[in-house]
Amino acid sequence: MVVIRSSPGQHKGVCFLAALFFVVLLLLPCQLWAGEYLDSAHGSTLHGVKRPSIDSAGYARGNCAHCHEQHASIDGAEPEPSSGTPSPFALFTTNFDSSKTLGPYSESDNFCFYCHNATASIQVVTNYDYSQNFGCAGLQVSSIMDAFNQASYHNLYDIWSFARSSFSSWFTNGSNPCNACHNPHLARRNWAYPSDPLYSAISKPTDHFNLWGTTSLMSAYSYESPYCSGTSREPTGSGASNGGSTPDYVSFCTNCHNPSNTIYSTSLGRDLVKIDWSSQGDKHGARNMDGGLDIEGPYGSSGGYVLSCLDCHEPHGSSNILLIRRRVNGGDLHDSITTYSTNYWGYLCTRCHLDDYDANAGTKEPYRWRYVHHEAPDHPYTAMRCGQCHGGGSMPIPCTNCHYHGAVDSRTGLINF
Ligand code: HEC
Ligand code: HEC
Ligand code: HEC
Ligand code: HEC
Ligand code: HEC
Ligand code: HEC
Ligand code: HEC
Ligand code: HEC
Repeated sequence: MVVIRSSPGQHKGVCFLAALFFVVLLLLPCQLWAGEYLDSAHGSTLHGVKRPSIDSAGYARGNCAHCHEQHASIDGAEPEPSSGTPSPFALFTTNFDSSKTLGPYSESDNFCFYCHNATASIQVVTNYDYSQNFGCAGLQVSSIMDAFNQASYHNLYDIWSFARSSFSSWFTNGSNPCNACHNPHLARRNWAYPSDPLYSAISKPTDHFNLWGTTSLMSAYSYESPYCSGTSREPTGSGASNGGSTPDYVSFCTNCHNPSNTIYSTSLGRDLVKIDWSSQGDKHGARNMDGGLDIEGPYGSSGGYVLSCLDCHEPHGSSNILLIRRRVNGGDLHDSITTYSTNYWGYLCTRCHLDDYDANAGTKEPYRWRYVHHEAPDHPYTAMRCGQCHGGGSMPIPCTNCHYHGAVDSRTGLINF
């Protein structure tokens, strides 16, 4: 595998690299790539990349030149990079504009958005969010750019910045933050074969030159695939109940979000909480729950489960804060969760846990939680001297006072998430 290092900003360096790149492209015996690249979504002669100026120059759909500026002799035509300055990877435009530290994003911020955008100028590619593709939700966004331009999103500048320092063996200043999670030469059309992980679209940052999740699956854990619609399972209602159709997203996401990495978020203006999915960490991870679970199907009350990050989160962006999915375990959330300190988190929790309505106890009302906190056999709090906790006249207490990744209850010592 050829890895090209770049020193952006230095025009001479860029020109040299661009020249080197053409040589590499021309000399690279395409057999080196052929199989994997031709199997990829971009390299497909049926579905792959197609840039009008290159198409009319006679290049077949899927050819590298639809993305890279290959010096071509076909018709003597020499396509110009549309941005005027050649990218270190000899792409047709700047790979990523690192002065763009916050969304919303527009096409010119990111090379990928010249196609992965509902009004793309090069090639319009339709993509849906995870909740729709794999979770049976209805339409919300129809492109990757639209997915990012929502209430919350994986901040591309922060990913770029984090990946430069953490994956510097291959991720350079000129690299694209999307490629921290994808390899554009390998990514496949998972959405077209949603229950066949061999069609994976992702690459783990520490294993960038392979697809991730083709054989490393959620079935390696004590996992239960959530409902999609009715009692059919994710992905897309055709998944195996034990996670045998779902890539191992825990290893994927914890490649970055783990107890040792400090990750800064420009969007949130602070370091992120570290995620510990081990048996020493969260109960939604490998730590066992204690007492009884007040839980909905397909989960059983004796517990022992490890959840996938994508059971609750979107990978790109969401209409809820913190990338929380809009559909979870076979049902849409009642409404969007737009602020952190709120009791509306119950809209998420009740997709799996019993609120008072589901438990037919407590206040018996939906999205209220007297039963699990005051009445269930393993309730943590005795309902007395109400003001101690329900002070200030407002009855419901924001869930995130006590429930969040890594939370330990100060009163009971219980692990709260
Ligand atoms: C020249 C247009 C173009 C550019 C630029 C482009 N893509 Fe694509 N991409 C496509 C097309 C076309 C497909 C195949 C769509 C389909 O599945 O029918 C695709 C598919 C994909 C897939 C597989 C999932 C799918 O929808 O099939 C991933 C992942 C992907 N692209 C990521 C990227 C990333 C990351 C970048 C930027 C580094 C990028 N693409 C840049 C056109 C483009
Ligand atoms: C969808 C657009 C797209 C297509 C098609 C494409 N590339 Fe790339 N390529 C990229 C991007 C984007 C990068 C920059 C990688 C990064 O951001 O780190 C890149 C980087 C590279 C690199 C540098 C090493 C690496 O993998 O990062 C080589 C070599 C390369 N491409 C060769 C090719 C060849 C050969 C083909 C055709 C067989 C091809 N590319 C097809 C988008 C594409
Ligand atoms: C933090 C990791 C991460 C980043 C950053 C990221 N993606 Fe993804 N992407 C994923 C995951 C996870 C999936 C879902 C897996 C799947 O579709 O098979 C996905 C799916 C996709 C798909 C396929 C969607 C479909 O229809 O199934 C495309 C296309 C894509 N990403 C493009 C992009 C582009 C373009 C960017 C940058 C603007 C980007 N991604 C940034 C993790 C990421
Ligand atoms: C390449 C490293 C990387 C990977 C892989 C990655 N993340 Fe992130 N994540 C980041 C960075 C950097 C931030 C800080 C920027 C931000 O807040 O968006 C972040 C932020 C987040 C946030 C907070 C977003 C916000 O601002 O509201 C959530 C939630 C999250 N990640 C979940 C996930 C999930 C789920 C996965 C797996 C699909 C994942 N991440 C994979 C790097 C990564
Ligand atoms: C996708 C389904 C799902 C969602 C959504 C979900 N949970 Fe859970 N939760 C579970 C499962 C399954 C367990 C049991 C884990 C185990 O077996 O170790 C659990 C365990 C717990 C526990 C430990 C209970 C005990 O007795 O030890 C707490 C506390 C908890 N969840 C709180 C929440 C809160 C608060 C929310 C909403 C912010 C939430 N959960 C959302 C599925 C979910
Ligand atoms: C040790 C702390 C604590 C004490 C003391 C306490 N509660 Fe709670 N209570 C909670 C927590 C935590 C919840 C769950 C969060 C929520 O729904 O507000 C809750 C939930 C409730 C709910 C459902 C909330 C709603 O309106 O949707 C009711 C009703 C309730 N408690 C009544 C009482 C009454 C009445 C008392 C006094 C007799 C009392 N509680 C004392 C902690 C406490
Ligand atoms: C004052 C702290 C506190 C607040 C506020 C709070 N909880 Fe809890 N909650 C707990 C504790 C402690 C447990 C018991 C954890 C255990 O069993 O290990 C619990 C348990 C739960 C469970 C797990 C039930 C099961 O299946 O065993 C759910 C779901 C839950 N809370 C939802 C909520 C929701 C929704 C809110 C906001 C409306 C909320 N909580 C507010 C402290 C709190
Ligand atoms: C049961 C649902 C659920 C699962 C499963 C889940 N999360 Fe979360 N996640 C949440 C909720 C709720 C929040 C908001 C509360 C908080 O900040 O912890 C959140 C917040 C986050 C944040 C932002 C933390 C911050 O600093 O505000 C990150 C990063 C994150 N999750 C990553 C992950 C990763 C990585 C995994 C898998 C290893 C994962 N999550 C699994 C529900 C979940």
